[in-house]
Amino acid sequence: MDTISSIVNRRSIRSYTSKKVSPNDITKILTAANWAPSGNNLQPWRFSVVMNDEQLLKKLSSLTVYHSWVQTASCLIAVFLDKKVIDPNIHGIYLKHVQAIGAAIQNMLLAAHELGLGSCWIGEILKKEDQVKELVGAADDLELMAVISVGYPNKATTSRRRDILENIVSWL
Ligand SMILES: Cc1cc2nc3c(=O)[nH]c(=O)nc-3n(C[C@H](O)[C@H](O)[C@H](O)COP(=O)(O)O)c2cc1C
Repeated sequence: MDTISSIVNRRSIRSYTSKKVSPNDITKILTAANWAPSGNNLQPWRFSVVMNDEQLLKKLSSLTVYHSWVQTASCLIAVFLDKKVIDPNIHGIYLKHVQAIGAAIQNMLLAAHELGLGSCWIGEILKKEDQVKELVGAADDLELMAVISVGYPNKATTSRRRDILENIVSWL
């Protein structure tokens, strides 16, 4: 699949069928995440994959206001920044490490799209960071960055608009 058309055609998917996602596909998605660029190549991302434990999927879904569709996903991936690997005196400002996580997440969404899966980046759940961490048993050094839902798309997506380049770019 052509990279640019994948980027343009990927949409956030907020409804999933009951078909289970395979661990093999989730491994491919995580591999794509792991090949993202990162400052100092620190690879500060960590992941908790919830896909076999129905109770845990339900509990995790219940932590977001979007639980009605999040609970239809057969896999939820909590994405963390590992603060342990970042020494602020050596590795510079914190923001760049957060940006690396963003790159990793975009790779995940694109990999899911290429595999015929749907996904959605859930930031709203950050309000419940402590509860998410407790549910997945995350270590203290891990900071929650997002939860990504993954599943087979249930219906065609509505297209999302983007601003025209003239409004967002200055050519110098
Ligand atoms: C940082 C971030 C946080 C997001 N949080 C949520 C969220 O909590 N719930 C949700 O339904 N979508 C969330 N999204 C998805 C956006 O709503 C979506 O990407 C945007 O509307 C554009 O639609 P598209 O992804 O289909 O192109 C988030 C996206 C990003 C990048």
